[in-house]
Amino acid sequence: MSTPQGGIFALGTASHAYLEFDVSAGRAGRELVAAISSLREPRTTMGGVNLVAGFRPELWRATAPADAPPDLTGFDEHVRGVDGFAMPATQHDAVLWLSGSAYDVVFEVARNVIAELGFLASVAEETSSWPYRHDRDLTGFIDGTENPTLTDAPELVLIPEGSPGAGGTILLLQKWAHDASVWEALSVADQERAIGRTKADSVELDDRPTDSHVASTDQDRFGKIFRRNMPYGTVTDHGTMFVGFSSTQRPLLTMLESMAGLAGGVRDALTRYTRPLTGAYYFVPSTDALQRLG
Ligand code: HEM
Repeated sequence: MSTPQGGIFALGTASHAYLEFDVSAGRAGRELVAAISSLREPRTTMGGVNLVAGFRPELWRATAPADAPPDLTGFDEHVRGVDGFAMPATQHDAVLWLSGSAYDVVFEVARNVIAELGFLASVAEETSSWPYRHDRDLTGFIDGTENPTLTDAPELVLIPEGSPGAGGTILLLQKWAHDASVWEALSVADQERAIGRTKADSVELDDRPTDSHVASTDQDRFGKIFRRNMPYGTVTDHGTMFVGFSSTQRPLLTMLESMAGLAGGVRDALTRYTRPLTGAYYFVPSTDALQRLG
């Protein structure tokens, strides 16, 4: 039985950092994979930090072919939707997602990790996140209502035993800037039509519009994923870090295509108020696969 990286399912952490790395010129990608596989998160009862590591699918496959899902690919091409809308492809070689009880411990571990990786890789993207009003994203809506429960999520989003990459999962990491002033100028009823749920208590609308966000990403149509929409940014420039896991790439890929209007010609209403800035897929191996390399 393969053990997943624990941080994937660790809820309730108050502080997050997402670090995306590129291999330094002249260094081999497999050196970076080995170095990241050897990292261990500090474990103390009060100040522990969860560390989740992921790799560009092609880099992981070149390093550990027996532990790699066969068809997984990086986010190498923009998703081009209707009305000139596009989601940019900004794939990097590796990602580390750190989460903990407070930013000081996350900050400390992030700096140590960057130092440990030394000359092997440089940080290409760095984003810090925090929870907002208990369980809301920066649209003000409750996030995660239709997420599988923690009891069901591992079975739904981990690659099953017996398949290459067992105990691993596929991560879509995508940073979205919000146009807060345009969004906040909408009435609550218009915001609810854009999301497809009520704002106060996240009840699905009986007559949810076909371009609503929940219609565009309907899991009964595209498959189950486990996700968080994490607030990031400053008071004047902020948005959502989308962190979504699936046992195959297809649900994530087809949800993005649907949001872009490629699944029926209608673009997700949410994309009128939010704009994707980054997009990358990472393979997040089991801890056993990491140990074999580390
Ligand atoms: C700006 C970025 C995003 C924001 C603010 C956002 C926000 C939300 C909110 C408020 C809900 C309704 C409550 C819930 O079930 O969680 C929701 C549902 C959902 N979102 Fe997003 N989301 C974003 C991007 C994405 C992306 C990029 C994907 C997929 C690739 C996605 C997939 C889903 C799914 C699968 C659901 C549940 C749909 C269902 O009812 O089955 N979201 N999101």
